Amino acid sequence: MPYAHITGWGMTVPRKILTNDDLSKMVETNDAWIREMTGIRERRIAAEGETSATLGADAAFKALSVAGVLPTEVDLIICSTSSPEHIFPATACLIQDAIGASNAGAFDLLAACSGFIYALNMAAQSIRTGSIKTALVIGSETLSRFTNYKDRNTCILFGDGSGAFVLQASEKPGGVMGSVMHSDGSGGDFLSLPAGGSRHPASEVTLHTGMHFIHMDGKEVFRFATRVMAQATLEAVEKSGWKAEELELIVPHQANRRIIEAAARGLKMPMEKFVVNLDRYGNTSTASIPIAVVEAVQTGRLKSGTKAVFVGFGAGLTWGALAVEWSGPIQPERAIRPEWYRPFARLRSFVRRLLRLLEGLFFGREL
Ligand code: COA
Repeated sequence: MPYAHITGWGMTVPRKILTNDDLSKMVETNDAWIREMTGIRERRIAAEGETSATLGADAAFKALSVAGVLPTEVDLIICSTSSPEHIFPATACLIQDAIGASNAGAFDLLAACSGFIYALNMAAQSIRTGSIKTALVIGSETLSRFTNYKDRNTCILFGDGSGAFVLQASEKPGGVMGSVMHSDGSGGDFLSLPAGGSRHPASEVTLHTGMHFIHMDGKEVFRFATRVMAQATLEAVEKSGWKAEELELIVPHQANRRIIEAAARGLKMPMEKFVVNLDRYGNTSTASIPIAVVEAVQTGRLKSGTKAVFVGFGAGLTWGALAVEWSGPIQPERAIRPEWYRPFARLRSFVRRLLRLLEGLFFGREL
């Protein structure tokens, strides 16, 4: 049975920074309170024209470059997002087109802030069964588009960004070793974006009552998160056949520093074992774990052979964890760089659209 190795990684965040002081001009809040209660100092906000797909495609190209994998070699793209470009088509399909991954299947996965864990697990299991060889997993969010900047309960938390991993099959032991996924839909109301779906389609009422914004019961979410983080981490460790003492690094969902500290207490592990970068990006939902992983690699905290757990929780309610033995690229450097494919991907998309148009014009089409 092949192993599923993480062989490429990349992250992209918008340039625009929204600081706590900026927020204090928009709602009744202040830098000291936000830092004390959440640990967040600033977050990134997507500019006009930046979307979950554009950020995702950018992160994907970076991940492919690290892995030395061409877009045409990708078999499957899973985009985890709670802020898709549309209800459909899937954001994963827009990314597939943007990067020119012409041989890949593509779909979105929605498990909110736990989504990257779920998506990584799905991709890894597809590789483990031999069904595919190469997968691209993307976590991408522009939650600022669904955030009410008059609601101080939520607007202090969220930021935009994207992270991507390439997963490849290899006979060498390592990669994604153990995983757990959990859910409890009875807590769905604690964190939701109520309108825009089939229960509350867009209407004047949904618009005027702010139902297209994120709604949250912060205290309940906090209680839930502190309860599940340590437990899910230990489950993933057990499933991978490791002992808790062997665990070297934990990359938790970046929601709130106090939640991560509670997990550290629950696990009886020092905070030094946890990757925390929420001070600079806020809660980027499903993108937070891959962004934190990329920074952990860049700072040398995650190296070939490191035993790590990625653990997340979020709306649904959902939570889950993955035990990963970090690999790094598994194929030798190649002469063709994946990022050189960027202009070809654009050209390819343009030509396909043009051909479709010409075909319609010259030969007509029956619906
Ligand atoms: N700025 C300043 N003061 C604020 C504030 C803000 N943004 N929000 C609330 N307050 C004040 C309240 O008025 C209250 O004041 P009082 O004690 O004088 O009445 C006090 O702070 C506590 O308010 P409360 O709403 O009870 O805050 P809390 O302790 O629940 O903390 C969160 C709020 C959002 C920081 C916390 O609930 C949390 O982090 N929850 C988890 C959210 C999360 O991670 N969501 C994403 C999951 S993926």
